[in-house]
Amino acid sequence: MTEPRQYHITTFGCQMNKADSERMAGILEGMGYLFTADPNDADLVLYNTCTIRDNAEQKVYSYLGRQAKRKHSQPNLKLIVAGCVAQQEGESLLRRVPELDLVMGPQHANRLQDLLEQVDNGSQIVATEPIHIVEDITKPRRDSTVTAWVNVIYGCNEHCTYCVVPGVRGVEQSRYPEAIYAEMEELGRQGFKEITLLGQNIDAYGRDLPGTTPEGRNKYTLTDLLYFVHDVPGIERIRFATSHPRYFTERLIKACHGLPKVCEHFHIPFQSGDNDVLKAMRRGYSHERYRRIVDKVRQYMPDASITADAIVAFPGETEAQFEKTLQLVDDIGFDLVNTAAYSPRPGTPAATWDNQLSEEVKGDRLQRLNHLVSQKAMEKSERYVGRTEAVLVEAQNQKDPSQVMGRTKGNRLTFFKGDINELLGKTVLVKITEARAFSLTGERVESLVAV
Ligand code: SAH
Ligand code: SF4
Ligand code: F3S
Repeated sequence: MTEPRQYHITTFGCQMNKADSERMAGILEGMGYLFTADPNDADLVLYNTCTIRDNAEQKVYSYLGRQAKRKHSQPNLKLIVAGCVAQQEGESLLRRVPELDLVMGPQHANRLQDLLEQVDNGSQIVATEPIHIVEDITKPRRDSTVTAWVNVIYGCNEHCTYCVVPGVRGVEQSRYPEAIYAEMEELGRQGFKEITLLGQNIDAYGRDLPGTTPEGRNKYTLTDLLYFVHDVPGIERIRFATSHPRYFTERLIKACHGLPKVCEHFHIPFQSGDNDVLKAMRRGYSHERYRRIVDKVRQYMPDASITADAIVAFPGETEAQFEKTLQLVDDIGFDLVNTAAYSPRPGTPAATWDNQLSEEVKGDRLQRLNHLVSQKAMEKSERYVGRTEAVLVEAQNQKDPSQVMGRTKGNRLTFFKGDINELLGKTVLVKITEARAFSLTGERVESLVAV
């Protein structure tokens, strides 16, 4: 009997890539491959790549170099680059790393089996042409047994001046609510408890689908989708990301407030606190509008947790403009902000401008912003101390096996003493005893929450 073939996937980048990787892993397992955590043991190595910033892109080249070398002594090794670097570089990746068998853009993730069959016929394949994403009939190999991602809209039509996503993920393509419902229903049947609905600009959900309501609204919107999927049996929590301030509506806020399974956590990137920078980024809103959205969210849900993304040292950003970003972070009091120094990306307008800032300015501003972000996050964390929170248990604490790890509804990581075999997938009450900037520690209150 021959040994079963083994595959390895390393995933870089955002949740969309993670969701794509889970689907590709599902396809490979369907073909008889077994997972191995060590790429050096694998007969098939797949890097699912990210190109959002230059450092994300460079990482993959160093990983690839090692595997390309291995291929010289193991010619049967299959080497694949998927995801956003694959889409961006296409053919030129083959020239840079001729050992590659397959270069495939994110829209082709569900076609992995078909593409591998073409590789078996002896060709090197580049699959980057835009396609209509084939409905997800694969069985993903999910990393968790408790929480799962469900794509609702692929792509992005926004064209912010710094961003590669529209170029690599293509135009918006929404899935029909029935397909989303069916996937969630299956997840509920399998015992999953929490779903995160995914889209790069999730508020755009439905605008590419046909039909309008009698009031003239799009027939399909994120708000309507939330109502539609809310009661899927077995699913206890629903989250969604990422929200765009330009499209975030009061109707959506009201729905989140009224629907008990929708978690009171909103990820709404603002990118900059200065209106001229926002204009140069082509974001389509002002910092005043952003503040009004947060006020509105808090008016309905005073304790909602708000997280965001921000970019420092965008081309031409002055010290005074940067300070407006600090001001916004100070005023809003975010639970978390993912920060990044601007990185010029191929094919984006901002990369061609001649007012790029130095590495020193980038480093300095990033550090100052990060300092404020953790200080504010710490303040937000402290509000939990002494409270009892419902925590959905997701895993054992890697660093202390006597503890388990879960999240509050507001998405704060929470650790407490407990047995993972008993608690995995359960929602329990935890009294919070200790706060750190981005996580909490507590003690279990001995009674299960009736959900
Ligand atoms: N669709 C989301 C975010 C997508 S990318 C939105 O519209 O906000 C994730 C984050 O990466 C962005 O929010 C932004 O903060 C950051 N990012 C994107 N392009 C970048 C670039 N060229 N340089 C630095 N950060 C970038
Ligand atoms: Fe990129 Fe802007 Fe689309 Fe977000 S909305 S993915 S930042 S282009
Ligand atoms: Fe990166 Fe592509 Fe996501 S560039 S952030 S993996 S959409």
